[in-house]
Amino acid sequence: MFKVPPVPASRLPALLRAMPKAELHIHIEGSLEPELIFALAQRNGVPLPYASVEELRRAYAFTNLQSFLDIYYAGASVLLHEQDFYDMARAYLARAVADHVAHAEIFFDPQTHTARGVPIETVINGLHRACEDARTELGISATLILCFLRHLSEESAFETLEQAQPLLDKIVGVGLDSSEVGHPPEKFARVFARCRELGLHLVAHAGEEGPPAYIWSALDVLKVERIDHGVQAVHDALLMQRLAQDRIALTVCPLSNQKLQVFPNLADHNLGKLLDAGLAATVNSDDPAYFGGYINENFTQVFAATGLTARNAYQLAWNSFEASFASSADKRNWEHQLKEVFERCYEHDD
Ligand code: HPA
Ligand code: ZN
Repeated sequence: MFKVPPVPASRLPALLRAMPKAELHIHIEGSLEPELIFALAQRNGVPLPYASVEELRRAYAFTNLQSFLDIYYAGASVLLHEQDFYDMARAYLARAVADHVAHAEIFFDPQTHTARGVPIETVINGLHRACEDARTELGISATLILCFLRHLSEESAFETLEQAQPLLDKIVGVGLDSSEVGHPPEKFARVFARCRELGLHLVAHAGEEGPPAYIWSALDVLKVERIDHGVQAVHDALLMQRLAQDRIALTVCPLSNQKLQVFPNLADHNLGKLLDAGLAATVNSDDPAYFGGYINENFTQVFAATGLTARNAYQLAWNSFEASFASSADKRNWEHQLKEVFERCYEHDD
């Protein structure tokens, strides 16, 4: 890999913002800004329990994952038609382009919508059309990952997979999200085995609030290729070795971890520890409309709080491309662009 010379601290935020990157952990329903929630509520005649955008924003005071999820699912209730899903994804993709995201792998939660009577094809077709249009109109590559809600049953996950079956060419993989503690990965062993047979890529949230044991079972029982969050791995030395040796990427979300009180003080975040241990960590926004920032805000704030360096920045961006489910040709192309941005940064040295 390119040997990264030091960059003055004053120049680091600009470099973090300008470098090309992939976003691998973004819940599209978590990109729904309060303004868009209100606009869609009005368009669709859906009543909201908040009088204004400001009142809704004031409710974003979370104490843990569950307190966030309750509001997050309520926000998604305004999504009814294919165009709503299109508009939500289009807004995220435009925002991602501004942050120099070259490639995004976007999570969506079909059960949140099918439970309200919205057909799964409405969800997938709207999101997929937004990804296709963004590729030609905005120059960003974007794919979809269907997430099963782990607080629901195995049966419900199987039913969702069956509904999605005719649309599988529009998704690259499956994931597992929602309330972690009490819902270990093993609960979905058979669903993930079936998804694997179908040739889908596999990821799962594990070790956000849950113990290292959930990361082990995501790897060994579900056979996932990446771990979403995974920050609790530091409590298990053997697991850290395994993650490093197998180059299992962790999609870390610093501002999410701060807002959900995993690391209430961003200065205590363990991203640097994960990188120092040789893990393929990446930086992502999780639910940017709820956690106070898109991907570049996550980069700049965690770097400022923990003193990470330009070398770490290069490694994180490189990891994000390497850990993506894009083609090898695309990965090499983006990694080349990344190197060029760093080289240009040194050309301007005084
Ligand atoms: N964890 C679990 N489920 C989620 C998250 C998260 O960070 N964001 C949206 N759904
Ligand atoms: Zn998440």
